[in-house]
Amino acid sequence: FMADTQRLDKILANFGYGTRKEVKQLVKQGKIMIDGIPAADSAMHVNPETSIIEVEGEKLNYKEYIYIMMNKPAGVISATFDNKLKTVIDLLPDQYKVFNPFPVGRLDIDTEGLLIITNDGALAHMLLSPKKSVPKTYYVLVEGKVTEEDIKSFSKGIVLDDGYKTLPAQLKILKQGEHSETEIIIYEGKFHQVKRMFESVDKKVKYLRRLVMGSVALDEKLEIGQFRELTQEELQMLHDCVN
Ligand code: URA
Repeated sequence: FMADTQRLDKILANFGYGTRKEVKQLVKQGKIMIDGIPAADSAMHVNPETSIIEVEGEKLNYKEYIYIMMNKPAGVISATFDNKLKTVIDLLPDQYKVFNPFPVGRLDIDTEGLLIITNDGALAHMLLSPKKSVPKTYYVLVEGKVTEEDIKSFSKGIVLDDGYKTLPAQLKILKQGEHSETEIIIYEGKFHQVKRMFESVDKKVKYLRRLVMGSVALDEKLEIGQFRELTQEELQMLHDCVN
């Protein structure tokens, strides 16, 4: 969640009202009101969730939650901070970072595709809860020939290297050959789950991309590394699949 208070100039700069210097100018000119009183200082701390901020009479459209869909590129990690590696949050502009968003679950560093990023902890928690069994669809490029037998095994649940038996998963062969193209739907999110499921049938995942979470599909118009806010409909769909 958002920190309780932040510097006024930072809030406004992040909402596109110019640089900190320009915001300072607006404050000097008495053009910024906090709860109906002209702001005294651009460095003052304000809680944008509880205070009404107006710029030249226009109310700041502050929202509590942000919901982003990202087409995650390979090479970045699904975390908010890392000492060495680039994170998915690093890819976002400040206007989104002020919400302190975090990725809902993890995709491996080499996995691409749909990642929901939000600061809505309650929704994230439900989407990740094993009790909710939210389906996730992946496109999987596999080294080796994926067979009907694999489909059957996956549909019964697969025992992973640590002895854990997965829930039944639906495997579909798109293209069969030395390298197979497949799509899989899983209902949980164990560590490296898809890769480990294929390892259990002696095959190696060469490329993995998440296509769907719940019933929200990756927007085909998003290039790798691009992102956009969820639409109202998509947000509703996420809520529907956990309620
Ligand atoms: N399964 C994996 O093995 N990796 C991912 O990133 C997601 C699912």
